[in-house]
Amino acid sequence: MNLTTTSAPTGTAPGPKNSFPLGNLRAFRADPLQFVYQCAGKYGDLAGVDMGPRTLFIASHPELAQEVLVNQRETYIKMQRPDGKPVGLQLILGNGLVTNTDPASWLVQRRMMQPMFHRREIAAMGGKIQAAGQRLLANWQTAPRPGEPINVAQEMMQVTLDIITSTMFSANVLAQASEVGPAVSTAAHFTFGRETNPFSLPLSWPTPANRRFAQAREYLDGLIYRLIEERRTSGQQFGDLLDMLLAAQDEETGRGMSDQQLRDEVITIFAAGHETTSNALSWTWHLLAQHPHVRQRLQKELDDVLGGRTPGVEDLAALPYTQAVLEESLRICPPVPAVPRQAAHDTVLAGFPIPAGSRIIVSIYNIHRHPACWPDPETFNPERFLPGHPERPHRLAFMPFGAGPRLCIGNHLAMIEGTLLLAMIAQKYELEPVPGHPVVPEVAITLRPKYGLLMTRRARGAH
Ligand code: HEM
Repeated sequence: MNLTTTSAPTGTAPGPKNSFPLGNLRAFRADPLQFVYQCAGKYGDLAGVDMGPRTLFIASHPELAQEVLVNQRETYIKMQRPDGKPVGLQLILGNGLVTNTDPASWLVQRRMMQPMFHRREIAAMGGKIQAAGQRLLANWQTAPRPGEPINVAQEMMQVTLDIITSTMFSANVLAQASEVGPAVSTAAHFTFGRETNPFSLPLSWPTPANRRFAQAREYLDGLIYRLIEERRTSGQQFGDLLDMLLAAQDEETGRGMSDQQLRDEVITIFAAGHETTSNALSWTWHLLAQHPHVRQRLQKELDDVLGGRTPGVEDLAALPYTQAVLEESLRICPPVPAVPRQAAHDTVLAGFPIPAGSRIIVSIYNIHRHPACWPDPETFNPERFLPGHPERPHRLAFMPFGAGPRLCIGNHLAMIEGTLLLAMIAQKYELEPVPGHPVVPEVAITLRPKYGLLMTRRARGAH
């Protein structure tokens, strides 16, 4: 693949042309996942899609991911508006770690929080992760009755919410879980909708969608500010992320964070830290139910290694197949299917011109299915991730957590938590789909099952 950025560009990137004022916007918005996937199939690794006044570029090759997210990271910046008004996820996350567009202050934030997310620190949180898994399993023993369908997507949301709040904020918001899920979902749909619609009405207009979003934001703000306030008034120290954020001081002024900045950091970790892992697990249960031979092999590993004992972080190294199942699920259904960027100035990618201000998405979903990287890409086959399997042709052929400096800070937490929960639950239960319940992938920033995931659970016998 030719990635030369110095030679004079020739022509424009191939892609669906459309002379209507909105270009391909309608087709894109109707089914973004399939639209973007089909573009790669038809037009190749870099497609340019007419979106009315602008072209949207879709990068579907690991080398392009390397170029956009790593090598040319100063050219391809996080999305921002020239007038500085919030755009996309900034509408809900403000200026937190995910959405901060200022390289200098982002670096300060990242350096401050990084120590909390080192693998060793996360491993030390194993007990809290295990306890949350046990709370879920205890619930499943009683309510609802065995055999009655449960919404597995909701259950996963609840347990990952339990984990993110207990590990990072030493708090328990389980009582509010049934309201948090819908509020996060409303916010995700709304921000994604605005990101992909250049004609959105101003936020101040009282449209039903604007009102729903304002309510969701108010609800989440209330929850986050309560969390912060309770810690401030209690004066207790837990050595967690919240303590660290409250103690952080500006090197020059010695001042702590403003309430707004604190809120932005906390809501960022709160939202980014549970919704993604929850979707990863939901898709894993769905895929396991479709592939009974994989489930059997998973159960065998769990039974052989654990012999019925509850797994802990120290067992993970002895559970390679369990981890491979999670990784293969992250490949097929990446919870963050694409990462967006914006060209800071005119540039050239793979020999094609990219005008300043263009949006470019690195499609993780497409890269994870690239036929040059993945033989038989649609097949769910965890063995791809076992030692001894042929090496992948590119480091970024598998990149569920992104790449470059903006790589997911929570990657170790997600992998440890995901593998442990998978082991704890698969050891005890088999989950079966409810016949007739549609399982439809939907993109709203993250990739989630649109109608939830109705399944019945069957307790496994003693081992
Ligand atoms: C399976 C679970 C997860 C997936 C698939 C995932 C995926 C991603 C991806 C693709 C990015 C890069 C976004 C970009 O480049 O624009 C990212 C960034 C980020 N993620 Fe995750 N994530 C997961 C779990 C978590 C968890 C558990 C946390 C927190 C505890 C977290 C916090 C963040 C933050 C704060 C960033 C922004 C980092 C920065 O810009 O410096 N994520 N994540």
